[in-house]
Amino acid sequence: MTRTQLVMANWKQQGSEPALTQWLSEVSVPDLAELSRVLCVPLPYLAALRQQRAALQSAVLAGAQQVSAWTGGAYTGEVSAAMLREFGVAYTLVGHSERRQWLLETADSRRAQLAALWQQGITPVLCVGETAVQHQQGQTVDVLWQQLAEVLGPQPAPGPLVLAYEPVFAIGSGQPLSAPDAQQVHQKLRQLLQQWYSAADCQQIRILYGGSVNSNNAAEYLRYPDIDGVLVGSGSLQADSFNALCLTVQSAIRERQVAQI
Ligand code: PGA
Repeated sequence: MTRTQLVMANWKQQGSEPALTQWLSEVSVPDLAELSRVLCVPLPYLAALRQQRAALQSAVLAGAQQVSAWTGGAYTGEVSAAMLREFGVAYTLVGHSERRQWLLETADSRRAQLAALWQQGITPVLCVGETAVQHQQGQTVDVLWQQLAEVLGPQPAPGPLVLAYEPVFAIGSGQPLSAPDAQQVHQKLRQLLQQWYSAADCQQIRILYGGSVNSNNAAEYLRYPDIDGVLVGSGSLQADSFNALCLTVQSAIRERQVAQI
């Protein structure tokens, strides 16, 4: 297993600059060799994040929650992938269900966002997930297939990808999908990705689980072979609980590594 496991904090439209400074100084302390940590902040905090990361020599990577579908020009309010790169952004969420629902982001715009990010060497974290009704009706795999196909298109994908599987009903509800159920979906997603990537590349693609993950349940997910990390919303806002979450994830990764020897 060569995939570096990933824990992504998604602050959504929350936080403040002082909170960021404090969070980063507390979170940068534990030295966690087995996993990468990414913080996705609201766009105005990217400058402070860049500055604080440098000052603390922090291993926490910078992430964004959105990017413009256009590479530049007269698009008031938009922020391009090139601008994100200027601020050291390494990963950017694309197609989070909250943006699909409230900002009405379309598949066309998600496709353009991926292209813009790849052009700038930023890794997109493509979010997919079914609704409660689709889940109850057994449509999960069909829905995920459609969500991948409409964004990745008919051709092989030209750049690196991280997938985040987030069942919509699990986000912010305190009702996470169980880890064994998530593993089944992740395994299927890895198979589906062979439409766009070679079998060997599919083994390198990280698939994160997201939806009501916290420091009590995070490690459970990492015990499963196709779950390569977690995307965490409310459980990431406080530095101490995020640290606790990362430490339990690290122990789970170590146990998994020992079991594989
Ligand atoms: P949650 O959010 O952890 O608060 O459920 C996850 C997400 O939306 O990425």
